[in-house]
Amino acid sequence: MATTIEPRAVAADLLGHRQYKLLIGNQFRAAESGATFAVSNPATGELLSDVPDAGARETQAAVDAAVQALPAWSGTPAPQRAALLRKLARLMLERQERLATIMTLEQGKPLTESRGEIAYAASFLTWFAGEAERIYGSTVPSAVPNKRILVLRQPVGVVALITPWNFPAAMLTRKLAPALAAGCTAICKPAEQTPLTALELAELVIEAGIPPGVVNIVTCADPVPFSDTIFADDRVRKVSFTGSTDVGKLLIRSSATTVKRLSLELGGNAPFIVFDDADLEAAVSGAIASKFRNTGQTCVCANRIFVQRGIYDQFSQAFTSKVSEMLVGNGLDPQSAIGPLIDDQAVQKVRLHIADALDHGAQLLTGGEPADGSERTNFWKPTVLVNATTNMLVAREETFGPVAPLIAFESEDEVIRQANDTPFGLAAYFFTQNVSRVWRVAEALEYGIIGANDALPSTAQAPFGGFKQSGLGREGGAVGIDEYLEVKFVSLEL
Ligand code: SIN
Repeated sequence: MATTIEPRAVAADLLGHRQYKLLIGNQFRAAESGATFAVSNPATGELLSDVPDAGARETQAAVDAAVQALPAWSGTPAPQRAALLRKLARLMLERQERLATIMTLEQGKPLTESRGEIAYAASFLTWFAGEAERIYGSTVPSAVPNKRILVLRQPVGVVALITPWNFPAAMLTRKLAPALAAGCTAICKPAEQTPLTALELAELVIEAGIPPGVVNIVTCADPVPFSDTIFADDRVRKVSFTGSTDVGKLLIRSSATTVKRLSLELGGNAPFIVFDDADLEAAVSGAIASKFRNTGQTCVCANRIFVQRGIYDQFSQAFTSKVSEMLVGNGLDPQSAIGPLIDDQAVQKVRLHIADALDHGAQLLTGGEPADGSERTNFWKPTVLVNATTNMLVAREETFGPVAPLIAFESEDEVIRQANDTPFGLAAYFFTQNVSRVWRVAEALEYGIIGANDALPSTAQAPFGGFKQSGLGREGGAVGIDEYLEVKFVSLEL
């Protein structure tokens, strides 16, 4: 474990006197019943803050506020909407240290990653500020002389944005920035484990001058009353969700009642393929970056590491030697490369996947146990398993933890078949120095995001989203704003 720091003192300094509130319309307010729920630090188990526990009534009030704000916001000229998004991005960057530290306290990730996430989150605001000014329509040549055909793009309307605990800032702005850029108004619900970052952003939204009701933030311990209210209300035209495939499927069912548009960014099972002709050093650092980012808790983390037979021993030695040097510890400690897992359920999944792999013939090269020897900890040593196979749980399911199973393969055809043999299709990575292979493999992999010699492809400028059961729609990139726009056709008879 990395050396200890004083998380309690840091939390007291940043959060001590804070009374976090919901943001609904022009008001910061408590839940009507006065109910709150506890947010605690996954590294220490200590209470960080109590936040309002909203239910159906507060959700309804947030929808009312978003409905009321819609006409003025959608009618605001795009350059003005863009300027407000840029201002919010600037404020986030000015408060980067505070926001990043609060994120580390509630989510656990190392502080350098939290700082990076704040910059990443702000980049969506800047990117979509630009896109707000490029919501072009078109004209189409008509088949008859006395008609003109116009195609307009207009905001979808009121949208609900449901965000996950693993990226408390970036997943919010990746949805909110295109929604606001398009002229939509929003009700945001951050994950119950990590609402503090979003509640801090609520204050910056108001400071930036974004009008009341355009952004509403509702926190709740139980997401069901929130989603029941949202899905029953015809005025909410779209829901965007990032989270598990199981919950995504429930939302698809719920959306049927009022036929809502959906964007879903769901689970993955990313293959990371190292061919014999890869640059070994680049492949090793890439595998570490992809596998252990956020302690293995991203939807795009390498889950199955396929290594071609000719380079397998060399790769596994170099990889294991680097992994065994990674320090586990509180994310506030600058030495920590690996923070805590989010909760005990996450720890139990890691435990189960390792046990299953060992039972089925894999061998442990490093890790495989809690980092501080305690059974009640969320800290887990980064783990490397060799001689893993595709039928093990660790290869069939998303582990969402710091466990790297290395699977040997012989040929390009075989590994493509294995990589595609999953219901998921979010991200895939491969390392090779053969340019023809780069094209062949990139085209053959059934995934929405491909990292070719690149372990960290995510960026505001590119579309992010998955094939198959990894989701619907794309976030980021030029197409990210389409998710928040309706297409209207006007036929003008002369
Ligand atoms: C995610 O895990 O869903 C987001 C990761 C990223 O944006 O790179």
